Amino acid sequence: MVVGAAMDDLSEDDFRGRAKDSVTKFSRTQPVDEEVLKSFLGNLFYVPCKFDDAEAFKRLKSRLDELENQRHTGGNAVFYCAVPPPVYPQLVTQLGACGLAREERGYRRIIIEKPFGTDLKSARELNTQLQKVFREDNVYRIDHYLGKETVQNIMVFRFANSIFEPVWNCNFVDSIQITVGEELGVEGRGGYYDQAGALRDIVQNHALQLVTLTAMEPPVAFDATSVRDEKVKVLRAVRPLEVSEMAAHTVRGQYAGGFVLGQEVPGYRQEPSVKPDSETETFAAVKFQVDNWRWAGVPFYVRSGKRMPKRVTEIRVQFKRPPHLTFGREQIRETQPNALVLRIQPEEGISLKFSAKVPSGGIRLRTVNMDFLYLSSFVADAPDAYERLLVDCMLGDPTLFTRSDEVEQAWTFVDAIEASWRDGKPPLETYKAGTWGPKGADRLLEVDARRWAVP
Ligand code: BG6
Repeated sequence: MVVGAAMDDLSEDDFRGRAKDSVTKFSRTQPVDEEVLKSFLGNLFYVPCKFDDAEAFKRLKSRLDELENQRHTGGNAVFYCAVPPPVYPQLVTQLGACGLAREERGYRRIIIEKPFGTDLKSARELNTQLQKVFREDNVYRIDHYLGKETVQNIMVFRFANSIFEPVWNCNFVDSIQITVGEELGVEGRGGYYDQAGALRDIVQNHALQLVTLTAMEPPVAFDATSVRDEKVKVLRAVRPLEVSEMAAHTVRGQYAGGFVLGQEVPGYRQEPSVKPDSETETFAAVKFQVDNWRWAGVPFYVRSGKRMPKRVTEIRVQFKRPPHLTFGREQIRETQPNALVLRIQPEEGISLKFSAKVPSGGIRLRTVNMDFLYLSSFVADAPDAYERLLVDCMLGDPTLFTRSDEVEQAWTFVDAIEASWRDGKPPLETYKAGTWGPKGADRLLEVDARRWAVP
């Protein structure tokens, strides 16, 4: 059963009507089974609730108590909160004050949507606030990337196979590239996005989560403590960027008008609810080192942007060149060193790129792909990231949620970059919508004699 609580003054019928429209439009099983939908809608309830109104929270509590008696929920409740970051402290206080967080009978868990705070200070304050009301193991900080099958598969790929792990280190790996690109713009979320920008919206959470899973040591067990302990160690090993390095190690860009997938689209500053002189970045790229034994000297290049040529999230593990050019420079002109590409989305899968001999009389090499595609190997449809995560929360398994120390460590890294950007270093560049970001993004790698791989 779901009890909606929001500022809108809706009746339960209005709420069910809205839910019906959305399920009919967005459900991934189409056409929707009318019987299932009817039974689902019968389990929806609604209580209008302004976040500054203590009486409204008391009404919410009475409604939950009433439904608990009718439906024998055992007092279990998950509070799933998708509100703007500044509202969380007040919301959590209200839940505590009216007794909704007290575990008198069943469990009381809270799910906090990203972004968790807007910087280290606000994230710490929110953590302190939450810990006054909920036990840490009842706090579920959601990052929907962790609910994606392909993201969880990074750990399976690395730790359930014996042939990749021996080469997964600085002896064999040249560099790591992570791309989180979207062809979308801000899609009516200009108000939120203009305060956030690509660094806070994606890099601080989704992209750094991909970094942790790629770089972590094998956990001793697949449980919440062991997995999250290893992830946080990676974030602690990320070398903080010095102020003097910001211009050479970070790039920020904002899209101007252009064409994406054949459609003309406006520039960022022309988007609704965006300030016409906004300095917010819609593209961010960062290069950094993970200072530990495994990754010493291996640069990590991370980029994320809106209005890229296409939607693509991938991790590219770029291996070193063979130590000796046995076949001669001319013969290997068309071949690249090995790379392993974990395609998070779309075309979910994994490719291993290696050299093969072009069939002909002489010796000529070319790079070919060995491909694994989820679609062709597995027939079952993967659950949506949120389906998986909401069920995990109900089951009390926080493995795929971020812990407070992870979030704070990620903010520590990102805050230093934000501070430098606010200071104008490096300056904001522009890029045409429908391209892979500003020129600076290419320079970031060119100075290291590398290039972004075309996804
Ligand atoms: C969200 C960001 O967390 O992730 C959005 O706030 C972004 O700006 C979205 O569009 C991307 O998610 P996905 O699953 O489409 O890659």
